[in-house]
Amino acid sequence: MTYMTVIVGLFILVKFVYSSSPLDDFKFNGNALKLGGTAKLDSNGLFTLTDTTIREIGHAFCNFPLQFKNSTNGGSVISFSTTFIFAIVPEYKKLGGHGLAFVVSPSKELQGTLNAQYLGIFNANNVGNSSNHIVAVELDTVQDFEFKDIDDNHVGIDINGLKSIKSASAGYFPTRENDTFKDLNLKSGDPMQVWVEYNGVDKQLNVTLAPISVPKPDLPLLSLTRDLSPALREYMYVGFSTSTGFLTSSHYILGWSFKMNGQAEPIDLSRLPKIPGTPQVNRLPKIPGTPQVKENKKRMLALAIVVPFIGLLVLLVLTFGALLIMRKKKFTKELEDWEFQYGPHKFCHKVLSMATKGFKERELLGRGGFGRVYRGVLPTSNIQVAVKRVAHDSRQGMREFVAEIATIGRLRHPNLVRLLGYCRHKQELLLVYDFMPNGSLDKFLYGQPKGMLNWMQRFKIIKDIASGLFYLHQQWVQVIIHRDIKASNVLIDSDFNARLGDFGLAKLCNHGADPQTSHVAGTLGYIAPELARTGKANTSTDLFAFGTFMLEVVCGRRPVEHQASPEKIILIDWVFECLERGNILEAIDQCLGAKYVVEEAELVLKLGLLCSHAMAAARPIMSDVVKYLEGEAQLPDNLSDIIKSRDFSEATYGQDAAPISVPSVTITEPFVSRGR
Ligand SMILES: *[C@@H]1O[C@H](CO)[C@@H](O)[C@H](O)[C@H]1NC(C)=O
Ligand SMILES: *[C@@H]1O[C@H](CO)[C@@H](O)[C@H](O)[C@H]1NC(C)=O
Ligand SMILES: *[C@@H]1O[C@H](CO)[C@@H](O)[C@H](O)[C@H]1NC(C)=O
Ligand SMILES: *[C@@H]1O[C@H](CO)[C@@H](O)[C@H](O)[C@H]1NC(C)=O
Repeated sequence: MTYMTVIVGLFILVKFVYSSSPLDDFKFNGNALKLGGTAKLDSNGLFTLTDTTIREIGHAFCNFPLQFKNSTNGGSVISFSTTFIFAIVPEYKKLGGHGLAFVVSPSKELQGTLNAQYLGIFNANNVGNSSNHIVAVELDTVQDFEFKDIDDNHVGIDINGLKSIKSASAGYFPTRENDTFKDLNLKSGDPMQVWVEYNGVDKQLNVTLAPISVPKPDLPLLSLTRDLSPALREYMYVGFSTSTGFLTSSHYILGWSFKMNGQAEPIDLSRLPKIPGTPQVNRLPKIPGTPQVKENKKRMLALAIVVPFIGLLVLLVLTFGALLIMRKKKFTKELEDWEFQYGPHKFCHKVLSMATKGFKERELLGRGGFGRVYRGVLPTSNIQVAVKRVAHDSRQGMREFVAEIATIGRLRHPNLVRLLGYCRHKQELLLVYDFMPNGSLDKFLYGQPKGMLNWMQRFKIIKDIASGLFYLHQQWVQVIIHRDIKASNVLIDSDFNARLGDFGLAKLCNHGADPQTSHVAGTLGYIAPELARTGKANTSTDLFAFGTFMLEVVCGRRPVEHQASPEKIILIDWVFECLERGNILEAIDQCLGAKYVVEEAELVLKLGLLCSHAMAAARPIMSDVVKYLEGEAQLPDNLSDIIKSRDFSEATYGQDAAPISVPSVTITEPFVSRGR
């Protein structure tokens, strides 16, 4: 029988007993753990997985594998039990991220995993894949819509992915009769205890959570009946994974005990290490039923010696505290407290100036409608970033501004370029983004040699951007209108995934298409007719631009090409003409030759025309676009008729029958921001 216990407390003690092996009783210290990422263990036994550095991962796994299956026993998973005490201290009072997970993994080094919502366990490619063989219990403090999180304070059971099989808001059922469910705040900074227990016979996994002042509740928070045998291998490693993103928390493990085939030993609550920076006044509860008399005598003696010292100390602390409060008061006057609450990462102008070598021309990556983009390397961390420098309307209220930044900064999706932080300096706004080594898509479409992208890559880029835009329009708590979708705003990351950049920017900048102003944000050729007329951007004007973008990628040419022969100047019109002639495929990029998938190409061209329909009402919504692209839905049968119904003279179009036949040429240059 395998029997083992790991306790991380004031010191690490690992007891390891194999009845059949010579290692009968095994004790060692920190060597028992394999630490990865930012994880560290200090001499007091405090085990910090991540601190409040942005976008980090902390890993700690038991250094040796444990046998989870007994092959002589039909290969079913053996019962196991673990309990641990954790504390999550958010950087700001209410905002922190992203969470902590207890992980059973086939490897003690989870490599190539991502931070933020991936919790350091998975990456965008392997998340959800059954070949991962990972079972985890997540304590998640950020609501992620991609993974269908129920809220930003939940416990979930994850198998091979991050869409929890079962999840519940943090809390516990008190043992006393009639007491109602008690909510807990995972990122309160208070230590809490978790029990994870699996019964190999009933195939039941229970997860229980409670504050450490409360004994283990009888009812688990989560109970899942599922055979873990397909998910787990025979030998597995147990440990923890945590991550921070744009939002950060310090994640601590204060104690841990694990046992195979039995009940995990209770953790000695009197020996928990202290969490730095938080008052620890009498947090530790008395353990009921344990004799405390002898202990108390010793304590009295200790007190007698310590009291005079404490007197002195208190005096010192008071003086120091008063000084600190005075300083803080001055500080908070400058920075209103809501800024603390939102917690956007604010960079110092000096740091960004240093990172970009004083915004040197040589570091210039590109010029966009909103401003210039520079390459930068952050001085201390050596992280490569892209810094966007935009003119900023200083009249915009600070509160509104920070709310806006916080919104953009919290958007997380594999197909969106992440905003890491900002800096407001005089009339200028500096936005710090992830650096995308492969640059923007237009370089691939129009750079030399032409036709660098094959069909598969082009189709994937279209699907990627559709997925990012779907998230902005329909999956995030607020509807985010992009306002400037075009090839030069699509960036290619190192794995050749396409990511949409510059979202939400319009609202922050002078150029913003405010309904009150007559200025239109956008780029020639991507502007929907009604947007040109009314100046009002909405999701369907984004759809128009996205339709043009799809055509651009497939046809390998810009939406408006002045040098082309007259019938080809406007891309939409040209593709439409090809459709009418019954040969829509004629419009495809010549560079592709015959190397494309006919059905996919036809789908994208037709969908492009449908999205760029002159009438807003005819355009689909993003969730439908994603379904069409993924082959989960068929385009309507009368699609050609719908697309062809673009005769503006017909009265049935009512208001939309404005005398604009070709959207892209009605816009005068001064109204549009030029492409990069
Ligand atoms: C595996 O199962 C067999 C039969 O049930 C038992 O004799 C043996 O001790 C088990 N081995 C381990 C490592 O649990
Ligand atoms: C799952 O991962 C395996 C191995 O990495 C890979 O071959 C397979 O294609 C992946 N499946 C999916 C659906 O991504
Ligand atoms: C629980 O509630 C019921 C009905 O409200 C009451 O009769 C009973 O005495 C309560 N029990 C306890 C232990 O408070
Ligand atoms: C899980 O919880 C249920 C309900 O309290 C209990 O009956 C069951 O024995 C528990 N199973 C394990 C493996 O702890």
